Amino acid sequence: MIKSIITLGIESSCDETSVAVVRNGREVLSNIINSQIPIHEKFGGVVPEIASRNHIDAISIVTKQALEQANITYSDIDAVTCTYGPGLVGALLVGVSYAKALSYAIGKPLVGVNHIEGHIAANYITHKDLKPPFIALVISGAHTHLVHIKGYNEFEILGKTRDDAVGEAFDKVARVIGLGYPGGPKIDKLAKEGKPTIELPTTHIDGLDFSFSGIKTAIINMNYKNPNINKADLAASFQKHVADVLENAAIKAVEKTGLKKIVLAGGVSANSCIRERFENLKEKGIQVFYPEMILCTDNAAMIASAGYYNYINGKRDGLNLNAVPNLKLGE
Ligand code: KG4
Ligand code: ZN
Repeated sequence: MIKSIITLGIESSCDETSVAVVRNGREVLSNIINSQIPIHEKFGGVVPEIASRNHIDAISIVTKQALEQANITYSDIDAVTCTYGPGLVGALLVGVSYAKALSYAIGKPLVGVNHIEGHIAANYITHKDLKPPFIALVISGAHTHLVHIKGYNEFEILGKTRDDAVGEAFDKVARVIGLGYPGGPKIDKLAKEGKPTIELPTTHIDGLDFSFSGIKTAIINMNYKNPNINKADLAASFQKHVADVLENAAIKAVEKTGLKKIVLAGGVSANSCIRERFENLKEKGIQVFYPEMILCTDNAAMIASAGYYNYINGKRDGLNLNAVPNLKLGE
């Protein structure tokens, strides 16, 4: 029998303190997520200093819960994996420092994980047979990337945002129309009550890059000039615009790579309008995958999964591992 490999994942890049235990990169034994959303909600967004302090409060307790729920002890762990970037530096440092101390104390290897790789790996948990190569569309609060996944540890960026991330645009539009933080789920809900009848400007970009700052500014201006504008129609129109942009980019990526397999990842992949739109691509013979809802937004199971693929590929980090706030995919 092949020995199972157990990875402990630690995630603290933004406002979720999460620790998970995953077997062989695919089977979640525990995934504890302590969200700080209620703490940051009143500020309309994540306050980095407050996020770091709350990670410190939570991390030991969350780790203890993850081990208990997985019914394992420290000696069962094969590798301690943690997000070391990209993200908020103070928030990342909590998880990185904790992972380093734990790896040293229990004498198990340390593996630093790129958070974006983690979002993609969430799909390996949901879809047990999913294997590279495929195209990944990573759409989160901080990232918008179209990536050719050539292997578990081999990536080629096909396109990325030149300004705002798509989730950032959702959050800003939501704030302006009075919905609060985090905006994505609130726009998703409100849009169901409206119709996408408001015409919005399109931004033309060559290749596979994205730009969302124009649409965000257009909506802010519309709302400012006409405070009585129907907010549900505005939400529905914005969402339709984003779905159009993402769908077109995905089709172009299929044409460019010849790969008819698209994997969505990141918080915005929870969006019902975007999912519906990508479902339609199946009629064109394109396979489409999304993570289950709980694995779309930040969580440590996805980090333990990506950490597993890094670990079996021989990646090891030393006790000098540092947080890298602007870490790029493939670095
Ligand atoms: O992946 P994530 O937890 O964090 C980053 O790595 O950035 O993504 C958070 C983002 C937020 O911008 C949030 O508004 C957005 O995901 N989001 C959604 C939905 N659920 C979360 N956006 C659109 N529709 C949703 N249902
Ligand atoms: Zn994330």
